[in-house]
Amino acid sequence: MEKNRLQHLAIIMDGNGRWAKERGYIRTKGHEKGADTIREITKYCAEHKTIETVTLYAFSTENWKRPKYEVDFLMKLLDRWLKKELTTYHKFGAKFETVGNIEGFSPKLQETIASIKEQTAHHTNVTQILALNYGSREEIAKAATQLAKRDEEITEESLGAELNTPYTDIDLMVRTSGEHRLSNFLLWQLSYSEFFFTKTLWPDFTAEELETIIEDYIHRNRRFGGV
Ligand code: FPP
Repeated sequence: MEKNRLQHLAIIMDGNGRWAKERGYIRTKGHEKGADTIREITKYCAEHKTIETVTLYAFSTENWKRPKYEVDFLMKLLDRWLKKELTTYHKFGAKFETVGNIEGFSPKLQETIASIKEQTAHHTNVTQILALNYGSREEIAKAATQLAKRDEEITEESLGAELNTPYTDIDLMVRTSGEHRLSNFLLWQLSYSEFFFTKTLWPDFTAEELETIIEDYIHRNRRFGGV
């Protein structure tokens, strides 16, 4: 059997809070450590022969419901982390992109995001897409609203093309921390993807574990509805 090719990987990075709690730290410490894990995974993806895109769920439209101090911390961390991360993007040849409603962030954070995108636009080893203020149902509803303005039949292709994420199917979706949910993440783009759930909390997740998951994925029997 031919091995599956992995081009687009998506990850729901979950478990930062529990990681911190287990160690008697405040939750935000888990987010800081989780941000370091992103660097290790980005390096792995950039060096991987077939991975072209890695999409990471960093902040959902529902995450605003968290305590204000935690939301404020995440916003500041993102700004600080992105500025520092520029070196990583250059070092590994990674292009930074986002999906989600960035306009919901402060003008300063929006500026940082735009600037990092611009400075990494020429990199080709991997594209790292951070899902920020992202909700899949909102994304689909907005795409449908755009299409409804045109006087033509709505097709899978036209709706897919109207989504914020360029229409590329995700091959493998990994969720850490033992939860088995999609949490409004890329509902359309995950239609035919393979799922992998690990109990590891995101701050403890490593490139080695990702490699074993990919090894499992490449041997799966993907049929796409066929036989
Ligand atoms: C889930 O942990 C984590 C998130 C809110 C999203 C991922 C955030 C990071 C990896 C850190 C910051 C990211 C960037 C890009 C700087 P949780 O808080 O839901 O954990 P819990 O379920 O154990 O409470």
